[in-house]
Order: sequence, then C-alpha cells, then structure tokens
Amino acid sequence: MSVKRMSTRTARPNGPQDVARVTTRTVQDMKASGVNIAMLTAYDYTSARILDAAGVDVILVGDSASNVMAGHETTLPITLDQMIYHAQCVVRGVQRSLVVVDLPFGTYQGNTKEALSSAVRVMKESGAHAVKVEGGRSIVPTVERILEAGIPVMGHLGLTPQSIYRFGSYQVRARDEVEADELREDAVRLEKAGVFAIVLEKIPSTLAADVTNSVSVPTIGIGAGPSCDGQVLVTHDALGLTTDFNPRFVRRYAHLDEQIGGHVQQYINDVRSGAFPSEDESY
Ligand code: KIV
Repeated sequence: MSVKRMSTRTARPNGPQDVARVTTRTVQDMKASGVNIAMLTAYDYTSARILDAAGVDVILVGDSASNVMAGHETTLPITLDQMIYHAQCVVRGVQRSLVVVDLPFGTYQGNTKEALSSAVRVMKESGAHAVKVEGGRSIVPTVERILEAGIPVMGHLGLTPQSIYRFGSYQVRARDEVEADELREDAVRLEKAGVFAIVLEKIPSTLAADVTNSVSVPTIGIGAGPSCDGQVLVTHDALGLTTDFNPRFVRRYAHLDEQIGGHVQQYINDVRSGAFPSEDESY
C-alpha cells in the first residue's frame, strides 16, 4: 500500500525552494507596516501543505492537538514526544510558513534547564522554527534561557489553557482592572525578555488594543478583537470539523463535518450497491 502511494504521488514539496520563507523578522515587519498576520493551527502533513500553499503566514502546531487530534478534554495530557511527532509531520508539508510549536504542559514550567532541553528537542527533532510558551512574568527566565540558545519564542497571555484548572473556567480573562494591569505588565515583560510575538487569548478587545499599542512585537489574537496585529484560530474550528466547541470568537468558514459525513454516506451507498468501483476504477 505505501509503495503504491509513493509511486503515484508527486515529490514532497520540500524540494528546491523558490519561495521566500516567513521568518520571525517577517512577522515583526508586518506589524511595522500594518499588514495583519494570519495564523492557523496544523498537526499533520496534509493540512500543513494546504495551509502553506494557501498563504497562511504562521502555522501553529498547537497543543490543541490534545483536544482535536487525540480527543482529550484539555491540553494537559499531550506529551513532548507527541508534539514533536505532530511538528515533524507539519514541517514536511511546509515551504513558506513560519512553524511555531507549543511546548506542552509540564515540559517547561519546572525549571529553565528543563525548558531549554524541551525547546532544543522540538527544534532539533522536528525542524520547526520557534516555540510557544504560556504565561507572564513567571515565565520570563524561561524565555530568556531558551532565547540564549538561539531559539525564537512566542508568548501567550490571557486565557492560557494549560492553566485551566487554576482558572476553573474558559471564561474571558482580565475583565477586572487588577488582572488587566497585570496582563499589560506581563506583555511588556515578555517583550523585554525577547519574545518575537505574543498570542492574546480571550480577553476584552479594548485591553488587547492597549497591549498591541504598548509593545513593539506583534500581538496575535484569538477572541481578543480586531485590534491585534494578527489573528489565530484552530483550523478544525474554523473549518467546522469540530462541532462541540462554539465560543463566539470562532468564525466557521465551512461545515466540513457535514460535508465529509455526506461524502462518506455516498461512498457507503456506492459500496453497498456495487456502484463502486466501476470498470474505469478497476484493473
Ligand atoms: O494550542 C493552540 O491551538 C493555541 C491557540 C489556541 C493559540 O495555543
């Protein structure tokens, strides 16, 4: 089966490259020139290839893979080995996009040495271009240590799903002034520590606008309103492959669950009736 596939497919796209790659510098220049950054998640080769060819700037190998790929309730169970596997698959499908990989829960919070070793494994074993970590001031030494090794880091503030059991809910974060001030300060600290961009998840639009204006690195929002320098969605949500997750910030560009279900039913009908395979599809 695998031999047949190899012989009937064209070469992988990571051959000779004539496309300008998106780098951490590119996304920073995009902020400076007012061009919004489009980021989406991918966890496998085929989807990464489609997203990359469509022109998405940043592909996030998110630990949301824990939910949408593995069916876990939270992002906590996914392991570093699993994230590296997903990242390897994505990198093989990408020619142009910047590939950022989430460091999973429990692989960077303990101490900076462990964090560095997790980040090095991701970069060495997957060929990705940067890592993402969740958290504010408490994560600054970790960001600095990873950066010292030459690995670009993206920050993530607001609703940080790895801390869901501390928050106790997926509600909008930083609605009150104390938490909002803390988040503003965290963004500045992350910028000083050297992150190249910051994801802002599920916070009020006005706060996201404040943060976006007060840091020089791009902010990439998810449920953080239109003033961020870019937007990110989980691809499975945007394309309607997931149906049980309906926060208001998700725009469904398609309902692929229904479409795929319909096509699969058609296939079943064809098999039952003998309409598939036809003579043309046989040897
Ligand atoms: O894991 C993920 O997909 C993310 C995005 C929601 C930003 O962190």
